[in-house]
Amino acid sequence: MLGAMADVFKFSVDGEILEPGEAFLPLPDDGLLRGDGVFEVARIYGGRPFALGPHFDRMKKSAAAIGLELERGLLESDAGRLISSVEPCDCLVRIIQTRSGRRILSLEELPAHTPTITLASVRYSPTLILNGVKSLSYAANMQATRLAKEAGADEALFVRPDGVVLEPPTSSIFWATREGQLRTPALEAGVLDSITRRKIVERLEVEEGEFQFEDLLGATEAFLASTTREAHPVSRIDEYELPKVDGEQTRAAAEAFAQALAADIGD
Ligand SMILES: Cc1ncc(COP(=O)(O)O)c(C=O)c1O
Repeated sequence: MLGAMADVFKFSVDGEILEPGEAFLPLPDDGLLRGDGVFEVARIYGGRPFALGPHFDRMKKSAAAIGLELERGLLESDAGRLISSVEPCDCLVRIIQTRSGRRILSLEELPAHTPTITLASVRYSPTLILNGVKSLSYAANMQATRLAKEAGADEALFVRPDGVVLEPPTSSIFWATREGQLRTPALEAGVLDSITRRKIVERLEVEEGEFQFEDLLGATEAFLASTTREAHPVSRIDEYELPKVDGEQTRAAAEAFAQALAADIGD
């Protein structure tokens, strides 16, 4: 089955800026042949990248975790040149370094998100040696989304075989208990150190831990957090309809994120 491709409108390959039809990758490269490499996706607001430093820091950690030396300086200058090669956009910059050392960056349209989202749980065991690593091996994440769609939901939610809630394939999850406590899975549970999650945890009172799926199924409201979603209200998880959609805790998280954004790039 051929999959949907991200809507790319400009590439940079090893520092050369290229149109989509002009960008090619010499083979062999284990980045493609084995998904061996690392990546990041950062958001650009009106031509200004948000939290690019933290994205490169995380990329460096991911690279170190798989024994790859990140060409950070070159990638940073590639990103600067690529972003300034187009009119200021509200878009995404994807940054990849493969095992062969290829530097591939793309500018992409923002994905279209519906105002609220439904989730289907998918059983998943984090691969211990790639825990918290944004490697190019994302086929399991993409397959989980397809499984969720087959089950009639918009997106998947990874739940460990022992019932502990993890995260959707490309975002973090938060929920509010009936007592009003905001919760999110701890990084140690086996989730990515999401930069959006970090901004919310820094600004709101959030309990981090290993929580059972049943706890989430008693939540009053829930939302996803990610670079592309910011704080995205969840309306249903499997058969459970959330009593509140875009409730006060979701709006507080959206506001906390807006403050982080304003502090980073200005209004
Ligand atoms: C597995 C996973 N979790 C969470 C996130 C959200 O991270 P961020 O907020 O840094 O975009 C991502 C981003 O793609 C991800 O791949």
